[in-house]
Amino acid sequence: MEVIIRKDADTGCLLGARIIARYVREKPNCVLGLATGRTPLRLYQELIRMHRDEGLDFSRVTTFNLDEYVGLPATHDQSYRYFMRENLFRHINIDPANTHIPDGTAADLHTECRAYEERIIAAGGIDLQLLGLGRNGHIGFNEPSGSLRSRTWIKILSEQTLQDNSDVFGSRSAMPRHAITMGVGTILDARRCLLLAFGPPKARAVERMIEGPLAAICPASALQLHPRSTVVVDEASGSALQFADHYRWIDANKLPWQRYD
Ligand code: GLP
Repeated sequence: MEVIIRKDADTGCLLGARIIARYVREKPNCVLGLATGRTPLRLYQELIRMHRDEGLDFSRVTTFNLDEYVGLPATHDQSYRYFMRENLFRHINIDPANTHIPDGTAADLHTECRAYEERIIAAGGIDLQLLGLGRNGHIGFNEPSGSLRSRTWIKILSEQTLQDNSDVFGSRSAMPRHAITMGVGTILDARRCLLLAFGPPKARAVERMIEGPLAAICPASALQLHPRSTVVVDEASGSALQFADHYRWIDANKLPWQRYD
């Protein structure tokens, strides 16, 4: 696992955007796995800026989002389809037909989950998967204790997640309790993973993900198994890391081709 500690969320997001932009330039028809939540917003703003000012071209890019709430139509302002359209897709030259998000309103959710996996395979697999981190160690909506080999499926959201995400719904009861999410196994199949986590509330989860045991109770710890995973944290979210100096040392001694800035 490559651990990169940056001063703050802003510089961390700019670094993340550079990693993705480099991928898009090297492989214009790449398949990106995308995430929602507060964390990647600044990264998406930077990708939009790169598209506008530097001509970063998304016309041949395909995307698959990690997850979607069950029961929310694309028109609902808290659906992840709506989030992606408002915060990224409508600002860049991506073909909407190439953007995939699980359909939380499908009549048969099981069929939708299987079809989502098949669509990822048909697209050639995910080249780079962007991830955020839940305070309880979740990735996508893979909550603690779920299988580390799971595939896209319907998950019951934990109380912690309801607490963390319900503010935007107005109340806890207005927030769906179920979601479709890529499984941990689906995420680990991506050729590369890029996880961002910032701020003091994520410090404990960051420490468990990077330095804790590989354990289903912290789904993000499964990234320890991934041959090419990069984790970008800031000083605050990295504050509980026991080996922070080691990660800084590695970062400072990278060969030129291993650097992103
Ligand atoms: C959400 C999403 C995750 C996200 C995480 C953190 O519930 N399902 O994909 O990474 O929780 O969210 P935030 O970035 O807002 O802290």
